[in-house]
Amino acid sequence: MVQTHKIKIHNRQTGEFHTLEVPEDRYILHTSENHGIELPFSCRNGACTACAVRVLSGEIYQPEAVGLSPDLRRQGYALLCVSYARSDLEVETQDEDEVYELQFGQYFARGRVRAGLPLDED
Ligand code: FES
Repeated sequence: MVQTHKIKIHNRQTGEFHTLEVPEDRYILHTSENHGIELPFSCRNGACTACAVRVLSGEIYQPEAVGLSPDLRRQGYALLCVSYARSDLEVETQDEDEVYELQFGQYFARGRVRAGLPLDED
């Protein structure tokens, strides 16, 4: 039987708090939608960062989050469209474009973007 985890989501844009059970083998965004919870998203495949959240507590697994730098993952950001829960979790939605700005703002400012992607320093 697949284990489930309790996820608390604070949607800072709408001021709503949601709590739901998410099976370990399901994307958190997808399961939230199945519960009628509306959260920001766009590409749904880990590339655009529209669905980014700050992980306040708990453990998340996001091997397909190609749009998120290792640095920002370490800082506790996650992309809900490609994230699995590995424990009970508490997350909150980012400010609009927060992660995009953190990843790309500095590179555009310094002119370090090559072929549309920042150079990965890891
Ligand atoms: S919706 Fe684009 S990264 Fe999640």
